[in-house]
Amino acid sequence: MKYEKLSEKNISEFKKFFNSIKKDFLQFRKFDPHRRKTFEDYLTSPNLNILLEIEKNKIVGYSAYDTNYKGRGKLIGIGFLRKYRGKGHGLKLAKKVVSILKCAGNKDIVTRTWESNSASQKLFKQLGFKKYRTIKNDRINGESTFLFRLKLK
Ligand SMILES: CC(C)(COP(=O)(O)OP(=O)(O)OC[C@H]1O[C@@H](n2cnc3c(N)ncnc32)[C@H](O)[C@@H]1OP(=O)(O)O)[C@@H](O)C(=O)NCCC(=O)NCCS
Repeated sequence: MKYEKLSEKNISEFKKFFNSIKKDFLQFRKFDPHRRKTFEDYLTSPNLNILLEIEKNKIVGYSAYDTNYKGRGKLIGIGFLRKYRGKGHGLKLAKKVVSILKCAGNKDIVTRTWESNSASQKLFKQLGFKKYRTIKNDRINGESTFLFRLKLK
């Protein structure tokens, strides 16, 4: 297993990988700034970084993050192929992203997920994130979005 940043070399494989997992993300009900853009624009936005987990030359997981989102670090997204879930990969990758965001000088890291996503809520709590806000009826099925923050020492 190794980690690699998204690059020209693996971008087409990443698009296929992402297409296979994107249905597992519960969409926002209203305005989602990323939806205005094409997937390519999203991938090349200035502060967006993508770290991939590679197993036997295949992308099995990713995490997107922003090193400076309104003066904070942001863990934008994380996801794995189904058969790689529930085996500790997510926690390991998220820890790596947290340490990158910390090295970039951030004292605060924010992230978000939806109400019924207990896997990601558990993962964020294990990393020390605390829920600080709920946005009600924020997803297409009426679920709330939970906002989490991690304060670094
Ligand atoms: C969310 C996700 C990235 C978590 O990664 P993962 O590799 O499955 O998680 P891990 O195996 O590292 O587990 C982390 C913790 O969550 C728990 N967990 C994993 N899957 C779970 C599930 N379906 N329900 C409840 N808890 C779960 C694990 O048990 C572990 O806690 P533990 O150490 O107390 O047992 C992964 O499940 C995924 O890709 N989901 C689909 C996309 C998604 O929802 N992304 C997050 C959007 S914010």
